[in-house]
Amino acid sequence: MITADVAVIFPLPIRMIRNIIAFYSVKLSTLRRNLQMNPSRLALSLLAPLIIAVQPATAADKVLNLYSARHYQTDEALYSNFTTQTGIKINRIEAKEDELLERIRNEGANSPADIFITVDATRLAKADELGLFAPVNSKILESRLPPQLRSNDWFAFSTRARVLVINKDAIKATDVQNYEDLANPKLKGQVCSRSGAHPYNISLMASMIARLGEAKAEEWARGVVANFARAPKGGDTDQIKAVAAGECGVTISNSYYLARLLRSDKADDRKLMEKVTIIWPNQTNVGAHINISGGGMLKTAPNKESAVKFLEYLASDDAQRYFADGNNEWPAVPSVVVKNVALDAMGKFKADPLPIAMLAKNSAAAQKVYDRAGWR
Ligand SMILES: [Fe+2]
Repeated sequence: MITADVAVIFPLPIRMIRNIIAFYSVKLSTLRRNLQMNPSRLALSLLAPLIIAVQPATAADKVLNLYSARHYQTDEALYSNFTTQTGIKINRIEAKEDELLERIRNEGANSPADIFITVDATRLAKADELGLFAPVNSKILESRLPPQLRSNDWFAFSTRARVLVINKDAIKATDVQNYEDLANPKLKGQVCSRSGAHPYNISLMASMIARLGEAKAEEWARGVVANFARAPKGGDTDQIKAVAAGECGVTISNSYYLARLLRSDKADDRKLMEKVTIIWPNQTNVGAHINISGGGMLKTAPNKESAVKFLEYLASDDAQRYFADGNNEWPAVPSVVVKNVALDAMGKFKADPLPIAMLAKNSAAAQKVYDRAGWR
């Protein structure tokens, strides 16, 4: 009996074995009191941690604990499809990125989280810097995802572009073809923007630093700030609305916000889009800045096998379609085609091939550049 139980202990994770040792240390210090119990109660008491430890080990491969900052309608199909294919049940916690990161940090070694999914390379970089991700070696992920859309620790599953949006009546499209043009004094009082502290703008600046160097990138930021129509406020959709209303002539927005308005069932949203023109930036040179949504396996993941299976599933054809289309984004796997009327209407464009890991690497410097330039 004892031999069988000991044999079960060895395949258990180190953490669990440590818990068992800790449990027995406490037990030994109170052994005298325990010996006064009747024999069957004593035996049950000593075997308790084995029973507790063994139960999750057998159930471990059937569960995946997902912490997600995504919440789109099509995600239901995305997750139920995984359970149907693998028999692994998904326990999902959805919250804002920063809340989830804080929660994972507070839970520490005992965190039940297996996978963290979020948007923007800057946020993934933050999780990575905190040492939360575990490296994943997967031939499937390596072969399905292009090298510029993955790092050792996290993976991109969809892409979005940061584009220029102009008011048709106020600005000539030929005047705003590149991000650099936003700093042209010709556009004085015409530029609207969200805060420079927001990850979308930080990632854009990270790409400018990679391309132009920090000094030139800062000069650009100062030029854009000098052209502001108003102090930065609101999100990307607020900027698009301000451009459509003529409050400013030009702004920068993530592509999916525009696709969302184009696809909207509200007539007002579609009318708004008639007032603006979308410009794919830097098409004659580097291409439009690309960002991602993605995720990684956590170092403390209790269900690592399930976690790797899930990441590999996200790179599959079906999952790619759900994942990208749910937020009007493009699949990260190049061979997967999404049928999305709004994205199709926006047309084809040249994307900046800069490795996403570079955005992560430059994100701290990017924030400092904005601070110095007064892009608050
Ligand atoms: Fe967004």
